[in-house]
Amino acid sequence: MGKLKALDKNLNLTDKRIILRVDLNVPMQEGKITDKSRISKVIPVIKEFTNKKAKVILISHLGRPKGKIDEKLSLKPIAPVLENLLNSKVYFSNNNYGPATIEKSNKIKSGEVLLLENIRFNKEEETNEKAFAKELAKVGDIYVNEAFSCSHRAHTSVCEITKHIDSYAGKLLSEEVEVINMLTNKPKKPVSCIIGGSKISTKIGVLTNLVKKMQTIVIVGAMANNFIKHKGHNIGKSLFEKNQENLLKDIVKKCKTNNCKLIIPEDVIVSKNHKSEANLKPLNKIDDTDLILDIGENTIKKIYKIIDESKTILWNGPAGYFELEKFSMGSNKIAKKITENTKNKSLISIAGGGDTVAAINKFGCSDGFTYISTAGGAFLELLEGKILPGIKVLETHE
Ligand code: 3PG
Ligand code: MG
Repeated sequence: MGKLKALDKNLNLTDKRIILRVDLNVPMQEGKITDKSRISKVIPVIKEFTNKKAKVILISHLGRPKGKIDEKLSLKPIAPVLENLLNSKVYFSNNNYGPATIEKSNKIKSGEVLLLENIRFNKEEETNEKAFAKELAKVGDIYVNEAFSCSHRAHTSVCEITKHIDSYAGKLLSEEVEVINMLTNKPKKPVSCIIGGSKISTKIGVLTNLVKKMQTIVIVGAMANNFIKHKGHNIGKSLFEKNQENLLKDIVKKCKTNNCKLIIPEDVIVSKNHKSEANLKPLNKIDDTDLILDIGENTIKKIYKIIDESKTILWNGPAGYFELEKFSMGSNKIAKKITENTKNKSLISIAGGGDTVAAINKFGCSDGFTYISTAGGAFLELLEGKILPGIKVLETHE
């Protein structure tokens, strides 16, 4: 992979219109933002530009409106939130391009911000179109991509636009790419990962790549149920993904050939349903009416040992149904133990994925990791070793 194009720190940005592609795709319920992490993350970057007297034009998407206007997915409610956090004027534009938008981008004062409407209201966004990219590019003088979490999408505001305007990789984006490259190419060893989540099929690509790089892989969450069943145990009514036998066998085999230790739960927390009592059980005591909802104490102890032995660790995917207190022990203890070792034993810890970040925040460990990625799909695709289209276009070839 080539180096990413970075904006020269000493460049005079006074009155320059910077198109900043950010990811303001935040979770919302009834018009209210339920998690501001993605917004908070880009605030320092926007401030850096406004402090340098630039005019900042923000482009983002929200949800998947599929090229149609959907008022529920308007970015308008985000403007006052940004204004509050930035402490500077944030204007909003209903359009993304055209004479009126260009006029607004010129008219705002240096140090001010213009937020453009949801870019996915335009059907040309997802088709990565040249004519649309050219129009978008006219709204600024310089383009900066600070939306790593969107860089796995070959969309106009991420890819094609870079061909029509002076374009750079933002600081956060570069940092994120660097961290994941470090993890997969030159980590401090031993390096381990804890992979969870509900579907094994969505993590196969990641596991296949990581098996070659990690000394240990720990499988938790509902996807561990596939492995528990594969070992010959009853998993009762637990979540289970069908027709994954071959993929699973392949992973087990690849672990052996690559000398990578594969750890799966040895005891679990079960319940008859989410509402009833939680019980700790060894694998051979699970019955037909049980639902596995967390990992047990012995498994946690084993994971502690792996964390203690590691110099670098990756965590993606919660260990159980952490939204309910009685099934949150596994994820809670993993988050706390990684935090403790990061602080006291200089463990390099990297976490990513929406649910994992939600768990880390819930257990008050958001300051406890070396790096936390707010990206979902893009984080996984980079871990799979894929080339992300939005990153590729920002590489220098000098
Ligand atoms: C995300 O939330 O993963 C990013 O904002 C990308 O959104 P998308 O999956 O709808 O492309
Ligand atoms: Mg997504």
